[in-house]
Amino acid sequence: MVNKEKNLDTKSETKQNDKQNSTRSGKEEALSEGDPSFALKDLPGVGAATADKLLSCGYDTMMSIAVASPDEIVDATGLGENVARRIISAARSKLEMGFESGDKLLDRRKSVLKIESGSDAVNKLLGGGFETGSIIECFGEFGSGKTQIAHVLSVRVQQQIKGATAVYLDTENTFRPERIEQIAKGLNMNPKEVLKNIKVARAYNSDHQMLLAEKIDELVKKEKLNLKLVVVDSLTAHFRAEFVGRGTLANRQQKLNRHMHTLLKLADTYNLCVYVTNQVMSKPDVFFGDPTNAIGGHIVAHASTFRVYLRKGKKRTRVAKLIDSPSLPEGEAGFVITEAGLQDI
Ligand SMILES: Nc1ncnc2c1ncn2[C@@H]1O[C@H](COP(=O)(O)OP(=O)(O)OP(=O)(O)O)[C@@H](O)[C@H]1O
Ligand SMILES: [Mg+2]
Repeated sequence: MVNKEKNLDTKSETKQNDKQNSTRSGKEEALSEGDPSFALKDLPGVGAATADKLLSCGYDTMMSIAVASPDEIVDATGLGENVARRIISAARSKLEMGFESGDKLLDRRKSVLKIESGSDAVNKLLGGGFETGSIIECFGEFGSGKTQIAHVLSVRVQQQIKGATAVYLDTENTFRPERIEQIAKGLNMNPKEVLKNIKVARAYNSDHQMLLAEKIDELVKKEKLNLKLVVVDSLTAHFRAEFVGRGTLANRQQKLNRHMHTLLKLADTYNLCVYVTNQVMSKPDVFFGDPTNAIGGHIVAHASTFRVYLRKGKKRTRVAKLIDSPSLPEGEAGFVITEAGLQDI
């Protein structure tokens, strides 16, 4: 029950976040210019002490409050729930979040960037590449290429977007700087520079993984990063290993839900691409069709904007299949993994 509610929560908040995108650039910056507490103090019901409390907990822009949930603010600041609700609603009206006409939404879609993979077929499947402002989930069996794509995107995002950086949350100890060097050289880029712009953190368990994701916002602000890619490889491995047995499922899904929410907020606030990988579990009761299923169930499925299923094809090829996307048809693309990254067959 709890799960179901949380899940719905995420969906409606995702939609809200969509609308909030448009105010991301202009107004938020204007309001947080100079002394940010000044703007916060302008909100009805927020005195100097509350503004300080919010600021010290990292709520230093209107947007950070507007996209928060009341529970989150209560947990972080110790403010009462009603106060938190009032502040959030005031921040939302300050940013004029509400209905928007379709033509404005179309304009906003123009700020979406598409990180190319190196394979035209894969790019085409995704409508041009791996989109910013979205979570893209790749799931598939071992060796299907999930981690390879993560490496390729970490390099290519820098080639395509000037000054872009990537954050790489590595849960399985499979990030390889040597592989990044190889891909960068293949693209005539300076491997040292490329490596410098990838911030890697090893996550040792699911709590650590969640905490690291929550710290990304702070990192961006502190180091003034032009963060355009967040990789979580693998999204689900720790959760899967730690929560074994039926009784623990609700707890696991609730945590995963929170984690996905953190990632969605990053995608939205910074117009960045979140790339997550996911394992498959075999379904022994399925004899026809593909007997595999992604881990994480509905929570991960709903929160991901694009879902791609990867499998090994003939003669060392790989096949990517688009399972779920807001506006693209389902389809398949073949590619190969080479020293330089991804290429068409
Ligand atoms: N330098 C390279 N040149 C060509 N192919 C490579 C290179 N490095 C890795 N590969 C290919 O990529 C495969 C590994 O893929 P990858 O690590 O992305 O799998 P994965 O989907 O992440 O698997 P897992 O579920 O185990 O994490 C290797 O089996 C190999 O075929
Ligand atoms: Mg892997």
